[in-house]
Amino acid sequence: MKILGIETSCDETAAAVVEDGRTVMSNIVASQADLHSKTGGVVPEVAARSHIEQMLPVIDLALSQAKNSRSNLELTWDDIDGIAVTSGPGLLGSLLIGTVTAKTLAELKSKPLYAINHVEAHAYASFLDTDHPPQFPILALIVSGGHTQLVLFKGHHNYKVLGQTQDDAAGEAFDKVAKLLGLGYPGGPAIAEAALEGNDSAYELPHARLSTSTLDFSYSGLKTAVLRLAQQEAGLDFTAPSSILAGKLSRKQKADIAASFQRTIIDNLVSQTLKANEEFGPKTITIAGGVAANKLLRQELGSKLRNSQFRIPDFQYCTDNAAMIASLGYWHAKAGKAAEPAQLEANPVLSM
Ligand code: KG4
Ligand code: ZN
Repeated sequence: MKILGIETSCDETAAAVVEDGRTVMSNIVASQADLHSKTGGVVPEVAARSHIEQMLPVIDLALSQAKNSRSNLELTWDDIDGIAVTSGPGLLGSLLIGTVTAKTLAELKSKPLYAINHVEAHAYASFLDTDHPPQFPILALIVSGGHTQLVLFKGHHNYKVLGQTQDDAAGEAFDKVAKLLGLGYPGGPAIAEAALEGNDSAYELPHARLSTSTLDFSYSGLKTAVLRLAQQEAGLDFTAPSSILAGKLSRKQKADIAASFQRTIIDNLVSQTLKANEEFGPKTITIAGGVAANKLLRQELGSKLRNSQFRIPDFQYCTDNAAMIASLGYWHAKAGKAAEPAQLEANPVLSM
C-alpha cells in the first residue's frame, strides 16, 4: 500500500511516498531555513506564504521521484492508495496550506484521507528504511522545536505520554540560547558546532528543579541561567538586554557557554530517558524530532543502552519530513481510520 504524506506544520514544505509504512519511495523536503535565518526564527506569515509557493511542486516531485518497482516508471495518482496529512499541532497558517491541499486532492483523486498528529508521527521515523524495525513496547523521546515528550507506545494508536515539558521545548531552548550568543538559526546545529571548540565544564548550569519522580522536563530556568551567565561574562548587570550580549562576548566565552549549555540539557534528556527505561522496560527505545540529530545525545544514549534496544533513525527522518507522516498514515489505513475531507480541520494545539 502506497501512501502520499504531506507535512507543512512549521517551516518545511514536505511530501513523500512510503510503501507499507516502511519503504521510502521518495522524500522531498523544501526547507525555509534560509528564509527564517534572516529574522532569527520563523515568522508565521512568511512561512505560510512560502508553503503556498512550494506545496504543489513538492508533491509533483515526490510522485515523479518515486519509481514503480516493476516497471521503473514514475508513479501516477493511480498508484497512490491514500493521502496522509499533518493536521496538527503547528502554526495555523502553515497547517492550513497542507490540510486544504490534501483535502482537495483527496476529493479530486478519490483517495482516502488520513489526519496525522505531527508529534506522534515523529516516533515513526524509526520504522523507515530499516531492516530492524522497532518492537513494541516502544519508548520514544520526541524532542523538537515545539515538543519535548517521553511517550510509551504499547502498539499502533495505543500510547501513553509519560512526561513532557512544563515550559520551553528542548529545541526551543537551543534556538533561544543560540540567538543570545549570536550563533544563528536554527540554533541546535549552531550550538553543537560552537560547542566543539568549548569546554563543557567551564560553567556549572542548573538542572531543572522538578521532583525526582517525575518524567517531565523544564528548561526556562536553564535559559534564564544562561542569560545571567552571559551578562556576567560580558561584565554587565542583569538589566543588560540580551540583544547586545553577543557583541560583547569573545569566541572562547561563547564556545564555553554553548558547550556547558549543551552538556546540561543533554544530561537531562538522557537521565529522564534512562529513568523511563528502568520504570517501563520497553523493548525498543528510539529518539525523534530535530534535536535527535544532536551527536552528543546520540552518543550518550548509545553508550548507556544496549545496542539491540536503541534505534536511531536516519538523520533525514529525524527533522520534519513527510515520510514519517505517510508511515503513520499507513497504520491509520490498516485500522480503517480515514477522515472525512469536509470535516478534517487544522488544529494548531492538537495534543497527543
Ligand atoms: O523536528 P523539527 O525539525 O521541527 C519541529 O517540529 O520543531 O525540530 C527543529 C528543532 C530546532 O529547534 C533545532 O534547533 C533543533 O531541532 N535541532 C537540533 C539539532 N538539529 C536541529 N538541536 C540540537 N542539536 C542539533 N544537532
Ligand atoms: Zn517536528
